Amino acid sequence: MEKIIIQGGCRLRGEVNVSGAKNSALPIMAASLLTEDETVIEGVPDLRDVHTMIKLLRSLGAKALYQDGSVLIRAGKGLNPVAPYKLVSTMRASVCVLGPLLARTGRAEVSLPGGCVIGPRPIDLHLKGFKALGAEIDTVHGYVHAKAKKNLRGGNIYLGGSFGSSVLATGNVMMAAVLAQGRTTIESAASEPEVVDLARFLRKMGAKISGEGSHRIEIEGVKKLHGVKYRIIPDRIEAQTFMMAAAMTGGDVMIRNVEAQHHHVVMDKLLQAGVRISEKKNAMHVRRTGRLKSVDVTTLPYPGFPTDLQAQMMALMAITPGISVITEKIYPDRFMHVSELNRMGSKIFLEGPSAIIHGVKRLSGAPVMASDLRASAALVIAGLVADGETEVHRVYHLDRGYEKIEEKLTALGAKIQRAKE
Ligand code: EPZ
Repeated sequence: MEKIIIQGGCRLRGEVNVSGAKNSALPIMAASLLTEDETVIEGVPDLRDVHTMIKLLRSLGAKALYQDGSVLIRAGKGLNPVAPYKLVSTMRASVCVLGPLLARTGRAEVSLPGGCVIGPRPIDLHLKGFKALGAEIDTVHGYVHAKAKKNLRGGNIYLGGSFGSSVLATGNVMMAAVLAQGRTTIESAASEPEVVDLARFLRKMGAKISGEGSHRIEIEGVKKLHGVKYRIIPDRIEAQTFMMAAAMTGGDVMIRNVEAQHHHVVMDKLLQAGVRISEKKNAMHVRRTGRLKSVDVTTLPYPGFPTDLQAQMMALMAITPGISVITEKIYPDRFMHVSELNRMGSKIFLEGPSAIIHGVKRLSGAPVMASDLRASAALVIAGLVADGETEVHRVYHLDRGYEKIEEKLTALGAKIQRAKE
C-alpha cells in the first residue's frame, strides 16, 4: 500500500491540464461490447478503474488494451456474459456491462455491486429499465441473472428516484435499448455531461438517440452497431478539484482542457466565496487573493452542485471564517471525510444529511485515512494548507480517479510525494 506525504503552506501557481473523464470512459468502454468491431476510445486517463474495466471486458471475452491514453476494444462474436464478483465488487461501474451484454447476447450474469463507504449502491432502477425492455430478471446468490428470450423490445421507462435521476442506470438502459426492437423513451433520465458523452458515442456507432442532456431520451432500436474512434470529454470533477485547491491555497492557477458549461454551479459558489474565476478558451483561470466567505451548498443531480465535489468544498469551507452548511442529497452517508478533517483541526458537526462547518484559521497536518475517491482528494487539498506534514494513507482510493495527481500538484508548487506504507 502507498501513502502521500504533503508539506503544507504552499500557494499553487501555474498551469495544469485536466485528464479525460473517468465517469465517461467507464460506461463508454462497456458500450464497446455492443459491436463486434474494434472501437478506439481516446483521451482515457491512466486510472485504476480504467484497468479494472479492461480486466472485466477481457473476462467477458473481449480484446481490450490501454495504449498511450487510448483504449482499444474488440468485443468480437463469442461473448461470455458472466461478470465475476471479484471484479464487480471492486468497482460499481462494472454494472454497466449488464445492458450491453443483454443487448448483444440476450443474457447477462453480473454480481450485485454491493455498497461502498459512500452508501448503499442499489441497482433497482437499472433492473426496472431492463424489465421494461422485456428482460426477465432474477437476483440470486448475489448475482443478477438477466435474460431476454428473443430480442429486447422498446418500451417507456420512468427512471426517477427520490434523489432525482440515476446516472449509470440511464446509461445502462440506453445501452440495452439501442439494439432493442422498436422505440424506447426514458423519462426522468440523468442529464450529466457523461450521459451526453455516452449518447454521442452510441450515435457515432450508428444508434438512433435524441434528447440526451434533457430528462427525456428517445431511442429507436437498430439491428447492428459498428466500431468507431471517439475522444471522451474532460473530467469536470478533476477540474473542480483543482479549482478548490487553488482557492484553498490562495493560489493563481490556469486549469486547461475544461468545458465551461460543465462548471457554472461550482463557479457560482466559488465566486460567492470570494474566489476570482474567469473563463478562457477551454480553460478556467482561478485566483484567490482576499478572504474567503462562507457559502452553503446542497448537492443535487446535474446541473446542481455535484456530490463528487462535496468533500472538496467542505475542505475549503473548513478554513473559511464563519459558518457554512453542506447538505448531501445524493448519498446521505457521504461524510467519511468529516472525522479525518476534524483530526486536522477543522470544526465540523453532522446533523442528519447536513454538515455544519465552523471555519478555523489553520488546519494542522496529521496522518489521515482515505476512504473514498473524493474524500481522499479533499484530504490532499487540506494537506496543502495545513501546518506541517500530512500523510494520506490508502491512496489507492485516489488512484481510482485522479491521474498523476502528485505530479500535477508538484508542477503547481506543492510539496507532495508518494511513499510506501
Ligand atoms: C455515478 O454513480 C458516478 N459514478 C458517481 O461518481 C457519482 O457520485 C454519481 O453518479 C452521482 O452523480 C460513475 O459514473 C462511474 P447514481 P451512479 O445511480 O450512477 C441511487 C465518483 O466519485 N440509486 O446516479 O452509480 C443511489 O443510491 C463516483 O466518481 C438508486 O436508488 O450514481 C444514489 O443515492 C462516486 N437505485 C443516487 O441514486 C439505482 O438503481 C444516485 O446514484 C441507482 C441509483
